[in-house]
Amino acid sequence: MRIVVIGGSGTIGSAVASRLTEAGHEVLTASRSGEHTVDTTDPQSVQALFERLGKVDAVVSAIGGGPFVPTPQTRPEQVQEGLSGKLAGQMNLVIQGLPYVSDGGSFTLTSGILNAVPVRGGAIAAAINGGLESFVHVASHELPRDIRLNAVSPTVLEESLDKYGPVFPGFEPTTGRRVADAFLRSVAGLENGKVIRIW
Ligand SMILES: NC(=O)c1ccc[n+]([C@@H]2O[C@H](COP(=O)([O-])OP(=O)(O)OC[C@H]3O[C@@H](n4cnc5c(N)ncnc54)[C@H](OP(=O)(O)O)[C@@H]3O)[C@@H](O)[C@H]2O)c1
Repeated sequence: MRIVVIGGSGTIGSAVASRLTEAGHEVLTASRSGEHTVDTTDPQSVQALFERLGKVDAVVSAIGGGPFVPTPQTRPEQVQEGLSGKLAGQMNLVIQGLPYVSDGGSFTLTSGILNAVPVRGGAIAAAINGGLESFVHVASHELPRDIRLNAVSPTVLEESLDKYGPVFPGFEPTTGRRVADAFLRSVAGLENGKVIRIW
């Protein structure tokens, strides 16, 4: 399959790109500074990416999350930053990417544990993940040409403990490899409308 991994230079995205390549797929990576450039907060940039790439069999998104900040100290622009980045950015990838995905192809988005398990400062991330999972739940039933839509919801990765460890006290971390396997399962399998939880 020809697969584009958006956020393919990140911790999760690079693990997914390696796993899909290892499984024999042709993998293209995109990010604001990657092999193929795109800013998912800008619909024109997203449109230009899909036009440049042409047909793909699968779109994988592992783009970045929202700001961690306690609710009483949250500023409206931080809410907006989170929503337009991870939530609207990934929804628009599906909406704008549809014409470029082959019949029977798929989209796999990235959610996360924080809408199910509260952590300090995690309210924006929780709202984003909850919104994404609701989008997957409904939109997956409306996609044409047997195109599927799933999300992967990881807990914190071992590889990210330096960055996020203090936010997840006592959480058992997972590995990039396990998370990448969940993406492979979504791309190469038959599931639709699922949130594949790695926790
Ligand atoms: N790491 C974890 O432990 C963990 C656990 C659960 C959930 N998650 C979720 O998984 C996702 C990825 O996390 P990560 O740790 O892999 O993040 P990361 O290492 O910061 O990687 C983010 C990737 O997305 C790209 N990106 C960010 N904003 C973009 C934009 N506007 N347009 C295009 N590309 C963009 C980045 O590249 P450029 O900067 O070059 O654009 C990079 O390739 C996030 O949504 C996060 O909430 C992570």
